[in-house]
Amino acid sequence: TRYPLGMLLSTLTLCLMLVDAKCPVHFGRARAEDDGGILQAEPRRMLLEFDAAAVNKLDIDAVKADLKALFLDSKDSWPADFGNYGPLMIRMAWHCAGTYRQSDGRGGCDGGRQRFDPERSWADNVNLDKARGLLWPIKQKYGNALTWGDLIILAGDAAIESMGGPILGFCAGRVDDADGTASLPLGPSLDQEMVAPCSVNGECEAPLGASTMSLIYVNPEGPMAVPDPELSAPQIREVFGRMSMNDSETVALIGGGHAFGKVHGACPTGPGPSPAQQPWNPWPGTCGEGPMKGKGNNTFTSGFEGPWTTNPIRWDNEYFQNLLKYDWEVHVGPGGHHQWRPVNKDASDPDPVANIMMLTTDVALLKDPIYLELVKLFAANQTALDIAFSHAWYKLVTRDMGPYSRCLGDQVPPPQPFQAPLPPPPATKPDFKAVEKAITKALRTASSALPADMVGGKPYYGALFATLAWQCASNFRQTDYTGGCNGARIRFSPQKDWPQNVAMDSVLAVLEPIKASFPGLTYADLIVQAGSTALTNAKARKLKFCSGRSDASPDETPFPFQPPRVFSNKLVQLKDNAQVMGLTSREMVALQARLRSPSQQRRLGYSGSWTDNPSLLTNEYFKVLLNNDWVNVTSAAGQLEMKAVGTEGVYMMPTDLAVKWDPVFATIAQEFATDANAFLEAFAAGWNKLMIADRFKGPTGNECK
Ligand code: HEM
Repeated sequence: TRYPLGMLLSTLTLCLMLVDAKCPVHFGRARAEDDGGILQAEPRRMLLEFDAAAVNKLDIDAVKADLKALFLDSKDSWPADFGNYGPLMIRMAWHCAGTYRQSDGRGGCDGGRQRFDPERSWADNVNLDKARGLLWPIKQKYGNALTWGDLIILAGDAAIESMGGPILGFCAGRVDDADGTASLPLGPSLDQEMVAPCSVNGECEAPLGASTMSLIYVNPEGPMAVPDPELSAPQIREVFGRMSMNDSETVALIGGGHAFGKVHGACPTGPGPSPAQQPWNPWPGTCGEGPMKGKGNNTFTSGFEGPWTTNPIRWDNEYFQNLLKYDWEVHVGPGGHHQWRPVNKDASDPDPVANIMMLTTDVALLKDPIYLELVKLFAANQTALDIAFSHAWYKLVTRDMGPYSRCLGDQVPPPQPFQAPLPPPPATKPDFKAVEKAITKALRTASSALPADMVGGKPYYGALFATLAWQCASNFRQTDYTGGCNGARIRFSPQKDWPQNVAMDSVLAVLEPIKASFPGLTYADLIVQAGSTALTNAKARKLKFCSGRSDASPDETPFPFQPPRVFSNKLVQLKDNAQVMGLTSREMVALQARLRSPSQQRRLGYSGSWTDNPSLLTNEYFKVLLNNDWVNVTSAAGQLEMKAVGTEGVYMMPTDLAVKWDPVFATIAQEFATDANAFLEAFAAGWNKLMIADRFKGPTGNECK
């Protein structure tokens, strides 16, 4: 396999030797809310240094002009192929963005974490340290107005443009991370082993993005390095799908990208140690001798050798034409790996095409009927390629930025479908005080839409309203800024059909008369206000309500927001969800004690709840959790649940018990059990944060603050 098992071990050794080294594996130095190194609460962002005003004012055309001049200024320290660094920059930008995965929104170039381990030492990122090094003078010149994340993507854009390729626009505003923490779940790392182990490297499954650890998508040589294009095609579809790319986007990106540049594998001896192994001189290169050892024609990057087209610094559709024009045969190239050449052409042939090559993953595009049709389309129609590539490239480099409202700068194209655009909120807002009154009344008024919980023999909908607001908002992911209650997409499939959302349409139906009697009131605002009103009524600290959400149209193409993931290890689930939602451990633990409806628990398949009085938000939850012994039982509906020993009808869910099992969560739970005030404060902080988490105003701003 291509995953350097030795890398992790040698990195561990190095990190143990160098206490202050930026270790790709975290050793759990003491930190508030640190959980011992596995699944830390929040990635560290350099917010203090992010200057949205400066980014907004940046003259992007001036940066691009500087970049284009830099691309043509070949340096002896790392000579440019064909006198142009453009192709190297495109590969850097694509590898920075291509880490994105739809499963949990992690990865992507926002954060600029390609500078840090684990990403910087990935086998697929060999020699990209040179590309970033070339950019330093430009980073220095523009300072805080140009983050590393923006610069890396802009370098890719400028390179495509400078060689004649199409660019849709630029969404600025990537906020640089202070280290590689947020990429630990991508692996290789202990965090990744916990959350998403890969049992057969080369066949890694979702939620991991790539098939192979430390590669961006797939092994270019073919699955498990077997040069079989027929096997490679389904793997390409699988992993590009994990990154939310469809077939047309996939083919346009691969062939559009490989219109440029070449692969590097001058000899079989490899690139040398990675930055994690040898930070002082990473990937020195082992091919050739003398001053040009390891560079220029002696470069070893991937271990394959040659360009895809006869003019690798010009944008065109020759890649697709070459694929169709020649029969391709496999051979072992100078770098010792299988690659493909036109039949009957070898290095001694004077024909310029004798020089060109394809990877197994390129030839794979001929072996799948849908891919083949797209190859034919792009070979015949340059305009179709221009349109498909420019849109797919913009999506590739922008989708981890989330909605349109996070983009800064004057070159932002109109909202794209992948940004899940929402209509503007209604111009006239209702009287929210009056809405609150109506909700308060509805809390204890029986409705034919759904039987209420009964408290003291009277109907009570508060726990159901709080559950609806939670279900609406809690699919928010700070990893890619998707989800949340804005748009109220919980009304539509697929969200409404998620098992955890069972009967949420009926809870909304209880609120329907209120929606009908207040023109200008959106479902999204109503859902959030109903949840917060119910909690305030249940004696939560006064919760902030910030109106102004809009409703997605029922006619929109269903947006594939991902449900929170379900892990067999509930401890990992709770921690991972907290991290993805952007909640601290304190906030997550406090929110576990939100009002819990016994009737809804039964609809979810459990035998009941831990309390039959869900009308009060108190720290009782933590007392019940900590003061009982629990046994695993299976409910009549087949749900695994926990029963309090020696009691009747007191049930919790495995995720509740995870709070007790984890020492950091348990410590917080103990504090909450003994300090009601601390609990209520943490609860309000977490609830308020989550309810407005999707109200973006630029990359770091929030329109509710
Ligand atoms: C280079 C594989 C998709 C752009 C390479 C190299 C490999 C590779 C092995 C050679 C690196 C080296 O030795 O220097 C793949 C595979 C892909 C894929 C397996 C997916 C199946 C893409 C995409 C883009 C892209 C989507 C951009 C849209 C490039 C460029 C280079 C390159 C521009 C040339 C770099 C240079 O000249 O220095 N690719 N690639 N590739 N790739 Fe891809």
